[in-house]
Amino acid sequence: MYTQALDLQTPVPAATGSAAPVGQDLREHAFNARLADGQKIEAQDWMPEAYRKTLVRQISQHAHSEVVGMLPEGNWVTRAPSLKRKAILLAKIQDEGGHGLYLYSAAETLGTPREAMQQALLSGASKYSSIFNYPTLTWADVGVIGWLVDGAAIMNQIPLCRCSYGPYARAMIRICKEESFHQRQGFDSLLAMMRGTAAQRDMVQDAVNRWWWPVVMMFGPSDGQSVHSAQTMNWGIKRISNDELRQKFIDATVPQAQLLGVSLPDPDLKWNASRGHHDFGAIDWDEFWRVVGGDGPCNRERLHARRTAHDKGAWVREAALAHANKTRARELGRAA
Ligand code: 3HC
Repeated sequence: MYTQALDLQTPVPAATGSAAPVGQDLREHAFNARLADGQKIEAQDWMPEAYRKTLVRQISQHAHSEVVGMLPEGNWVTRAPSLKRKAILLAKIQDEGGHGLYLYSAAETLGTPREAMQQALLSGASKYSSIFNYPTLTWADVGVIGWLVDGAAIMNQIPLCRCSYGPYARAMIRICKEESFHQRQGFDSLLAMMRGTAAQRDMVQDAVNRWWWPVVMMFGPSDGQSVHSAQTMNWGIKRISNDELRQKFIDATVPQAQLLGVSLPDPDLKWNASRGHHDFGAIDWDEFWRVVGGDGPCNRERLHARRTAHDKGAWVREAALAHANKTRARELGRAA
């Protein structure tokens, strides 16, 4: 399928030592040299099967997260408190759908059809972010998703703009720009509530209390438990570890919470001058793995919603395919 063996863009470094690399070794040598040189790997380039598989796993999980992530916020479209907030929310949800599409496209360049990735989501074989298995109980939850969830997503995703796989890195550049707007609108919405009534302030604090720990968990298991990190960092897919990103997020968020006037629900959260970072309390990893394993507050509801949407959309896919086939046949007829 791939003819990239003829398309090496980096000169293969001269072999040192005994025998010069041949065949697969030669291609692996060139692949490693490109990574070491900071060059991107492109779809037509040779890559180890494990690199390809890892990218499909991560990018498709990421795409699923964007699409499933539309559901908790979608819950509030008809109940947004003003026309302005409704328009912003609709645009944000559409952005998330768009992110899913860029990411499925990036993953497709690796040779896995979109339909196969979507089936993996619908069957429960493929994961999506734990964070979207929590409910949005009040309007303040929508602001907190923007501020904290999108804030955590940006922290994790900015380094992915430098990912070694070109199509993923380029998709991430646009996604991060949009996520940055999402984070600001969330903060703006919460600020408006914090300047409102005591009931509104209580609503914001309650939402922060419920979302804080799930957001801290979003970065994934701690480095010692992360099964993929060592290899993905070696390949330049992941640039910063789960724990480092979590720490950067917490350090960046504490002053924002102060500005907003909310407290973060962690009695152990305090500045540690000797580390130059905030210390924070123990994460409930049992809860994390329960949610990842399918037993969170909304896992069943989310998958049910996705399956229903997929079934209801079958006629649209069939119609689009029929139209594409008809257009192609017409063009072929004209060319003949
Ligand atoms: N939720 C669900 N599963 C998670 C998870 C989370 N928060 N964190 C880790 N996991 C899973 C991994 O997918 C892996 O499972 P697998 O072997 O079945 O694929 C397992 O737990 C072990 O974790 P590792 O740390 O070894 O896995 P990774 O090296 O892949 O790191 C990651 C996990 C940090 C999420 C990484 O995959 C990543 O950076 N992904 C790209 C970004 C992404 O997907 N973000 C999701 C949120 S997107 C979003 O929030 C949308 C926005 O609109 C807000």
